[in-house]
Order: sequence, then structure tokens, then C-alpha cells
Amino acid sequence: MQNNQTTSSSINKESGVITSAEIICEDVTRQFSDASKPAVDHVSFKVAAGDLVVMLGPSGCGKTTLMKMINRLYEPDEGNIWIGQDEIHNLPVNQLRRQIGYAIQQVGLFPHMTISKNISVVPRLLGWDAEKIKQRSDELLDLVGLPKEYLKRYPRQLSGGEQQRVGLARALAADPAILLMDEPFAAVDAINRDRLQCELLEIHRKLHKTILFVTHDVEEAFRLADKIIIMESGKLVQYGTPMEIVSHPANKFVEELIGTQNLLRRLSLLTVQSVLDAQQGMVMQSNAAQSDNTVIRPDDDLRNALSMLLGRGSNALQVVDKSGQVQGEIRFNDLRNALADHTTNE
Ligand SMILES: Nc1ncnc2c1ncn2[C@@H]1O[C@H](COP(=O)(O)OP(=O)(O)OP(=O)(O)O)[C@@H](O)[C@H]1O
Ligand SMILES: [Mg+2]
Repeated sequence: MQNNQTTSSSINKESGVITSAEIICEDVTRQFSDASKPAVDHVSFKVAAGDLVVMLGPSGCGKTTLMKMINRLYEPDEGNIWIGQDEIHNLPVNQLRRQIGYAIQQVGLFPHMTISKNISVVPRLLGWDAEKIKQRSDELLDLVGLPKEYLKRYPRQLSGGEQQRVGLARALAADPAILLMDEPFAAVDAINRDRLQCELLEIHRKLHKTILFVTHDVEEAFRLADKIIIMESGKLVQYGTPMEIVSHPANKFVEELIGTQNLLRRLSLLTVQSVLDAQQGMVMQSNAAQSDNTVIRPDDDLRNALSMLLGRGSNALQVVDKSGQVQGEIRFNDLRNALADHTTNE
């Protein structure tokens, strides 16, 4: 298959640098020599440039193996992988990895290097001058919400959550076209994970990077994803928006994984934004919010929306973003529609 897409990457008009690129996996398969079945089994999907796609599945289903094939830490036995226009096996490995930022659960900061040195590993390899590196390090620390004083510290002088932020800054340092994130927040406590998820969404909104994010945490997947890939035993079993997956789970495995038998659980997995996206065409004009006691945020979940509708006895809630702009409206009917068609063939 040729990758003839014309929208496979987006280019920063000022710098000419590719800021995000699509990822295509076609029939990708990998079997380890001592295993009875493939760890990744004929997996095909496309992540559009600028999308945040979450790969979700239980331990051992092949998520890390697939990620490692995208940056060529492992080679596939079969199949092709494209980043933008390039099949990755046609690129020198260094050139490929320059386009990819990789963040993992163990962070992997170099303990004997300061935060400044850790962040600038790739820019230094690329031969950037000292001034440009300093400017970029300051900018990145700001982006991930850490004070500049941290540049002089060593990793052991930071908390687990702070180290994850540095890991994210390092992955973004050379402005890669895509970010691969393998359970980057799994080892941090719930409060820090919540903050890191907010920051990642904010960074994604600002930078529009293509992000492939691995987790086995269902809530995390639904909170972050534009689209979700669900994996089971090396196979891709469903790929869709959170709304599509909750309203049409592909099989019993998906139903059980996300707990869709329970109505409140299903509502808690969907954001208000996903309803606005599904409403397309009915989008209201942006106005300043008139009242804040019947409003809900786009990133609130639908379980909250239901409880506000019931609690206030109102028929509709205004959806208002952080800056006070009205983004739309959400009604009981929208909640009903989000729960509709929940049937499987099994
Ligand atoms: N280097 C390796 N050699 C042999 N088998 C491996 C290797 N790496 C992974 N596997 C096997 O491949 C399968 C998939 O592993 P993988 O690490 O991709 O799972 P995962 O979905 O990332 O799981 P987790 O959520 O626990 O991180 C597992 O059965 C694992 O034991
Ligand atoms: Mg893994």
C-alpha cells in the first residue's frame, strides 16, 4: 500500500518544521521467539495528524510491543508502519527517532545529569547552539508547569510527578512530529495524575501534536482521547471515538472492559464535549455566559451533567468554557442519545 494522503503531516508555516504527522500501521505483526502466539497480531489503524489517540487494553495485550515497533526498538515480522509520508524502515533510525518524542512510565531521566541537561539531550545531539537550548529549556519548563529553578536540580530532588513533567518536556524538546507515551502517568498518585492529564490536554490543544498514548486505565483513556484503540490479546478489537465505543461496544470483551452494563458508569466515561461534537451543526453562537449556576464545563463528564440536571430541575445546561464563552447546550435528550443503541451481536 502506498501512503498517498495529502494531509499526512502539518507544517509550521514560519519554521517549515513538521509539527505533527499521521501514523499508519498496516497488518503489523510481531511474535517473540519463545511465544506460542503473536504479541501483536495483524494490527492496522491510522492516527490522523494532530489527533490524540489512546491505546487501551489489559496487561500483556501488546501495547508496549506495538509502540516499540513504531520507534524501531522492535522490528515487526510482518506489516508496514508510516510516519507521515515515510515507511519507517526506509528511514535511518536516527532520523526516525528525531521525529518521535517517547515518554514512558519509568521516566528514564539520567540520574547524574541536571534537569537542564536531561531536557536538552536531543537538542545537544542535534547540535543546537547554547542560546537556543537555553531558550527552549525555559519554554518547555513553563509548558509543563515547573519553575525555572528546577533546571539546576538533579532528578532525585524532584517528586515522581515532577519527574514525569520533565520526561514530557524532554520528549517535546526537539519539537517532534509525534509523541509516543507509554503509561507515562501510571506511577503517580491520583491527584498528580489528574493534574498531568489536564496539562497534557492543554499541551495538546496548544501544540496539536499527534499523540499515541498507552494506558490500561479506562477513565484515563476516555478522559484524554479523541479516539480509542482497544486491544485484546495482540489484536485490535475496536477503534472509535469515546461516544462510539460507549454506545456501540464491538463485543462482550469491550463491554466488560469499560463496564457498559451500568448506565451511570457509561455516562461517567463521556465528556460534555463529546456530546457537543456529536451535535455538530447545532452549535450555538458564542456568547458571554449570563449565569454560572446552570453551567457546565466541556471537560466535565455526563454523570455530572445528569446530576446537575436532576438537582436543579432544569431541562438544559449551558456549556461554558474556562474563558466564559458559551460552547453550546446539553439536554436530557442528549444523555439519552449517548446511551442509545447499546447492543452487541453476541
Ligand atoms: N522482549 C520480549 N521477549 C519475549 N516476550 C515479550 C517481550 N516483550 C514483551 N513480550 C511478551 O509480549 C506480550 C505483550 O507484551 P507487552 O509488553 O507489549 O504488553 P502490554 O500490553 O504493554 O502490557 P502492560 O500493560 O503490562 O505493560 C506479553 O505476553 C509479553 O510477555
Ligand atoms: Mg506495556
